[in-house]
Parts: sequence; structure tokens; C-alpha cells
Amino acid sequence: MKILITAGPTREKIDPVRFITNFSSGKMGYSLAAAAVKAGHKVTLVSGPVSIVEPAGLSAFISVESAAEMADTVKRLSLESDVVIMAAAVADYRPVKMELQKIKKHNDDNMHLELEKTEDIIASLGKIKNDNQVLAGFAAETQNLKENALKKLKAKNLDWIIANDVSKKDRGFDSDKNAVTMYSRNGTVIDMPLEDKKELAEKIISIISSK
Ligand code: CTP
Repeated sequence: MKILITAGPTREKIDPVRFITNFSSGKMGYSLAAAAVKAGHKVTLVSGPVSIVEPAGLSAFISVESAAEMADTVKRLSLESDVVIMAAAVADYRPVKMELQKIKKHNDDNMHLELEKTEDIIASLGKIKNDNQVLAGFAAETQNLKENALKKLKAKNLDWIIANDVSKKDRGFDSDKNAVTMYSRNGTVIDMPLEDKKELAEKIISIISSK
């Protein structure tokens, strides 16, 4: 199968020296890519800025920075993919204006930064997907995990949502381990206890690609 995986955070520039981002390390997405290669799939990895090395054996590796860049790349590549897994922690908002010069400190104690929504990439993919394509997303939650994950599964027209508690130190975002619950479009629920992202990734790939 041809599998497209996204990983890492995005960076939304404020000015030439500052940006908005999040704590995503890219480990989950990179582990999924490595697991998919190991399972014999043709894997394309689209990654935001991370400090880990890409897995060996990828068909393609594309490095992007902003949510807009990730959106353009992923929408183009999704057309030829059997499975798309969005593990990237895409910024939901970006500065309305990127200043061309470094913003100087003012006398006021407060400063306001106006933000606008970025494109919800996986929701866009959900609108154009055909029945043969499997679309999977992650739900990064700090509360009401199940309820929020199921909302995203439906609203974004996904086949799988992998619910991820990012409020605990021992799992998720910047950790080597993760514990997730997978929910499918047709009501399957699979609980996966805390384990190394590498082993977890192999199980997730085998479930998502077994169609
Ligand atoms: N996602 C995306 N484009 C965005 C934001 C998120 O494609 N602009 C994808 C993520 O890659 C993930 C899924 O949507 O697979 C859910 O992301 P998450 O951050 O959990 O949820 P949001 O939809 O951003 O909602 P909220 O931040 O309110 O929880």
C-alpha cells in the first residue's frame, strides 16, 4: 500500500526571528513511518521541524515548516495514497500578518498578536476522500478524551481516530511512550496500553492497513 504520514509540529512565523509552535517531537509520526516501511509499504513522510532522523527505507521524505505548506503538500500527495495518517500537530492559528522586520519592544506593557485559523488539513482530506482511501487522525486531548475524539472522527469524516491524552508526562507529545484508544468509523474501539511508540506504531499500522 501507499501510505502518507505526517509528523511533528508546524511553525507559524510572527517575524523573521519568532514563531508559534507546540511541543510535538515527531516521535509518534516517525515511529509510524518506520513501522509502515517495516511492514513492506511504500511510505511518504511529510514532516514539520523536528530534531530526529528520518527512518530508512522511505519512498519520499518532505520537510515543511508552516501549516499552509503542509496543507499544500499533503493535499497533493493524498490523491495517490491508499492510507493517510495525520500524526502532525498542526497549528490551529497563525499570525494574520508576518512582519518582515523584527518586531521592536514598545513602551506598552502588553502587546496583542492577531491570529487567524489555519486550514484544517485532515478535514479537507475528509471532504475529498473516496471510499477506498483510509484516513486516520490523532486527537490530542487534555480532557474528555473519548467525547472529543469521537466528535473529531465524525466532523472530519475519518475512518480512524487515535485518541491521545497529552496531559500526562509519561506519554504523548514529547515522550518515548504513548497509550492510545483507537475508534473507527464503524464503532470498533481498541484500547492500547502504555508502551514504547515503536511497538505501538507497529500495532497501529497493522490495524489501519488491514482492509
Ligand atoms: N489537524 C489538521 N489540520 C489542522 C489541525 C489539526 O489536519 N489545522 C489534524 C491533526 O493532524 C490530527 C487531527 O486534525 O490528526 C486532530 O488534531 P487536534 O489538534 O487533536 O484537534 P483540532 O481539530 O485541532 O481541535 P482542538 O485543537 O480544538 O482539539
